[in-house]
Amino acid sequence: MLRDIRTNYQKYELTESSIQKNPIKQLTKWLEEAVKEKVQEPTAMVLSTIDSVGNPESRVVLLKDLNTGGLVFYTNYESKKGRQIESNKHVSVVFFWPELERQVRIKGTAEKISTEDSEAYFLSRPVDSQLGAWASPQSRVIENREFLDENYRRYQEQFKGREIQKPPHWGGFCIRPSYFEFWQGRSNRLHDRLEFILAEDSWQINRLAP
Ligand SMILES: Cc1cc2nc3c(=O)[nH]c(=O)nc-3n(C[C@H](O)[C@H](O)[C@H](O)COP(=O)(O)O)c2cc1C
Repeated sequence: MLRDIRTNYQKYELTESSIQKNPIKQLTKWLEEAVKEKVQEPTAMVLSTIDSVGNPESRVVLLKDLNTGGLVFYTNYESKKGRQIESNKHVSVVFFWPELERQVRIKGTAEKISTEDSEAYFLSRPVDSQLGAWASPQSRVIENREFLDENYRRYQEQFKGREIQKPPHWGGFCIRPSYFEFWQGRSNRLHDRLEFILAEDSWQINRLAP
C-alpha cells in the first residue's frame, strides 16, 4: 500500500558549520557527490514555470552548466517552457537525489544566454541530438510518430556532409538564483533544512523546521 511506504533517512547530516557559505559552491559539492554516488541522472532537475494566466507547470530538464552566473539548461525557445519564461522570467527548480537523501530547491529568474554560448554547446552535442533539435517542434501537437521520423530523415539529408547549424529557436537559459534550500534527510523526520536568501549582495543562512 502507498501509505505503508516509508524511509528512515540516516546517511548524512547538514550543519551550519559544514555547509559552504556560498550556495552555488554547496550545490556544486552536492552535485559532485551525486555523480560520485552514481545517482541516475544526477543533473536532472524539475523546472517550474508560470503560464500566462498564472498556472504553474513543471517538467524535468538537465543542468548543463553551473557557474557564478547561475544554472544553465538548453531547450527549444518556442516550447511551452520557452514561451512561459518569455512572458514570466520567474522560475523554480528542484533536484532530488534519493540515494543521498537530499533535495535542493531554488528560485530565480531565467534569461536566454548568448547565441555564441548556445552555438558552442550545440556543436559539442552528438549529431543525433543536433538533428533531433531540428526535427522536433517541441510542445506542438503533431499528427503521429511518423512525422518526427520523417522530419529527422529530412534534416539528415539536408545536412549530409555539412556541419549542423544550431536551429535559431534552440538555445540555453541561465537561471540566476535568489533563493536556495538544502534539505538533508535525517531520522525521526527531523530533517536538516538550511535556506539561503540573497540580501543585497550577500547570502543570509537560516535553519528551517522540517
Ligand atoms: C531525464 C529527462 C531530461 C530531460 N532534459 C530536457 C532538457 O534538457 N531540455 C528540454 O527541453 N527537455 C528535456 N526533457 C523533456 C522535458 O521534460 C519536457 O518534456 C519538454 O522539454 C517539453 O516541455 P514543455 O512542453 O513544458 O516546454 C527531459 C526529460 C527527462 C525525463
